Amino acid sequence: MKIGIAADHGGYDLKKTIHSFLVASGYEVVDFGAYELNLQDDYPDFVVPLAQAVTAKEVDRGIAVCGSGVGASVAANKIPGVRAALVNDHFSAHQGVEDDNLNLLCLGGRVTGFMAAQEYVQAFLNASFTGAERHMRRLQKVHLLEK
Ligand code: RB5
Repeated sequence: MKIGIAADHGGYDLKKTIHSFLVASGYEVVDFGAYELNLQDDYPDFVVPLAQAVTAKEVDRGIAVCGSGVGASVAANKIPGVRAALVNDHFSAHQGVEDDNLNLLCLGGRVTGFMAAQEYVQAFLNASFTGAERHMRRLQKVHLLEK
């Protein structure tokens, strides 16, 4: 599985630890930056290219980190085909995939510690969309908003 990651300065440290964790777990990682800590950088500059790679299927799933995870999720969800969510609990990390076909996980580097983030990442990556009719129906209604 190929995983894209991105972060601004608020998520820079957590992205680095997630990157190492993903590599150690055997995932192929594509890093969309930031590649250095710059307190003036802007999350859309990293999150939007990641989101575009997710929707273009250049990566299988994405993980975006900003300070709170809020800006990352706002920006990522502007890209058609991306289903991004800020996750702060284990249940949502896998249920978001199972029910809502989440393809881009957003985390808050100033909110979530590494061990919790690692569990959310694992839960997100190990989960699969169930494809249940009721979820397909709901997602189709969301998809129509992208037209
Ligand atoms: C950057 O200081 C901060 O606003 C950003 O990382 C993020 O938290 C936005 O939602």
